[in-house]
Amino acid sequence: MKTQEQQHLGIVDGLLMQMFGRPKGLLGRLGGIILARTKRDFTQWVIPLLEIQPDSKVLEVGFGPGVAIQILAATASTGSVVGVDYSQEMVEQATTRNAKAIAKRCLEQVAAGIVQLHYGSVEKLPFADDIFDRSLAINSMQVWPDGMAGLREIRRVMAGGGKIALAFTSAAGQSSTGLTEMLTAAGFIDAHLVKTEQGFCVLAIK
Ligand SMILES: C[S@@+](CC[C@H](N)C(=O)[O-])C[C@H]1O[C@@H](n2cnc3c(N)ncnc32)[C@H](O)[C@@H]1O
Repeated sequence: MKTQEQQHLGIVDGLLMQMFGRPKGLLGRLGGIILARTKRDFTQWVIPLLEIQPDSKVLEVGFGPGVAIQILAATASTGSVVGVDYSQEMVEQATTRNAKAIAKRCLEQVAAGIVQLHYGSVEKLPFADDIFDRSLAINSMQVWPDGMAGLREIRRVMAGGGKIALAFTSAAGQSSTGLTEMLTAAGFIDAHLVKTEQGFCVLAIK
């Protein structure tokens, strides 16, 4: 039998999951607005760590309200920026936030570049092998049903020599311990950890 305190914690965890973990419904939409307002600085710290080039092909898993997609689209200006998120609400918010970039790039750069946002889960990415030369997930892996399966799937769609970044703010509740080992077990090399006041990022190469 659960104590009253355990029951309350279960309810709070459920609400947090609905708001931020896998945003759903009204609470999820509100969660997306809060994420967009509070995580931009951290996102701006993470993206340069990936050394993205203008022609990079970038995959973001768990893009949420699409703040990183916005920065990535400006950075990989002749490449491609593709996102996958397991929340319809976040696909809608990120599509609205990036509407101009999506429309502009579709019109002006049909051959050279594209911004695409997909609904889906990290365990089954709708892409062929060896495509992306950069990939990232910010505050997302801690809510995937199977972290290792997700990492192996991201590795599958990455090109050899491609760079991955998994980043977490302190609020994500993800420990940095064991993450470099996890990336190595998923088949990545040169895994290492970098820290900032707001959180940390693990980087590795396929
Ligand atoms: C805490 S939010 C972070 C959003 C954004 N990266 C940010 O930093 O603001 C976690 C995101 O991961 C997504 N997510 C959760 N499980 C996922 C899965 N299995 N596959 C893909 N995305 C997932 C959620 O829908 C949500 O948008």
